[in-house]
Amino acid sequence: MTHAAITGWGKCMPPATLTNADLSTFLDTNDEWIVSRTGMKERRVSHVTASEMATIAAKRALACAGLDAKDVDLIVYGSCSNDEQVPNSASGVQAAIGATKAASIDLNTACTSFLYSLSTATAMIRTGVVKNAVVIGVEWISPFMDWENRNVAVLFGDGCAAVVVQASDKQEGVLGEQLGCLADARQTLRVRGMGTAYVNRGITMGDTEWDFDGPEIFKRAVTGMVQASHAVMAKCGVTADDIDLVVPHQANLRIIEAVVTRSGVPMDKVMLTVERYGNMSAATVPVALAEALEEGRVKPGALILMPAFGAGLTVCAHLVRWGDRVTPLGTTDADLPANKKTALDIINGIRSGKTNAKERSGEGLRNLRFIEAL
Ligand code: UT7
Repeated sequence: MTHAAITGWGKCMPPATLTNADLSTFLDTNDEWIVSRTGMKERRVSHVTASEMATIAAKRALACAGLDAKDVDLIVYGSCSNDEQVPNSASGVQAAIGATKAASIDLNTACTSFLYSLSTATAMIRTGVVKNAVVIGVEWISPFMDWENRNVAVLFGDGCAAVVVQASDKQEGVLGEQLGCLADARQTLRVRGMGTAYVNRGITMGDTEWDFDGPEIFKRAVTGMVQASHAVMAKCGVTADDIDLVVPHQANLRIIEAVVTRSGVPMDKVMLTVERYGNMSAATVPVALAEALEEGRVKPGALILMPAFGAGLTVCAHLVRWGDRVTPLGTTDADLPANKKTALDIINGIRSGKTNAKERSGEGLRNLRFIEAL
């Protein structure tokens, strides 16, 4: 059987850093509340688009794998913050890296998009459709964040990472996965104002508001990820004692602690980035994976558990067997253009743009209750 090994990895984190103190300059919040409820101290704010971050991460992952972009057969772009709906974002990355023979797919399952993309690429490699794939997890949330809503504005950040997945004779890469969706809870997380349902409804593009039932998402996320983790371990015939490292979705430190301990794994086996980056949606798992490799926490042959959840509510858990190589084959000079603004400058620019959009839209968004029937 053909397997799909992860042979390259690379992250691209925008440099501007938004602290809890920065947030409390325009929101009724404070460092103590944010740290005690979420474990977050800071997050990044991007000065470039999602596809620009994705391009740099993809170039770094390809250099790490020693693979020429011309040999890439497939790009899967996992995200819910695409630059545009048409054309898709994967095609933008394809053009930017010169992957001239690649098929290019956008995949949106919100925060689980990277892991669902990894499943897609793995399945296409196993069936022989493609041999070499780039799988991206990227999110540029700051432009559509509802910055006046403290329930959500403190939780999210921007970022990106990519992996290269290649056909292999060895039993490496995704050993198994459990995928699902708790669609009865899909009303708990909705971004109003993005998508065709809002066109011709008196809405100005760029005006977004979030429906967000934090405590309900919290409960469903913990139960869903624990069930998915136990299911994938049972499918693959392994126990919690066999897990070397957990690389979970990083939405909240308390969620991670609940999931990992209920899955039977000690917290010292968990890779955490939530304190420094917050919830980067699709980017959390690949960024944490790339940093675990940089820090030497992934040993040759390691068994890695990756549980995640996101809007939908999509839920999943993957078991990955790492290969022999834990160091990059090469590097690249590719980097983002320099940024001259502070994170607060960038956010305040977005906030004033949104205020203008709201004035133009009036109460339009809040009146769009028809969306709830979907
Ligand atoms: O990737 C998927 C994305 N979704 C998630 O990850 C959400 C999962 N949920 C959570 O992480 C948690 O539910 C939150 C961090 C969102 C909230 O924590 P909580 O312990 O469930 O708090 P809560 O919602 O019960 O809020 C408690 C209080 C409320 O005040 P009252 O009504 O008790 O007076 C909130 O208004 O905290 C207030 N609050 C805040 N206070 C200061 C909510 N946000 C803030 C804030 N700063 N930023």
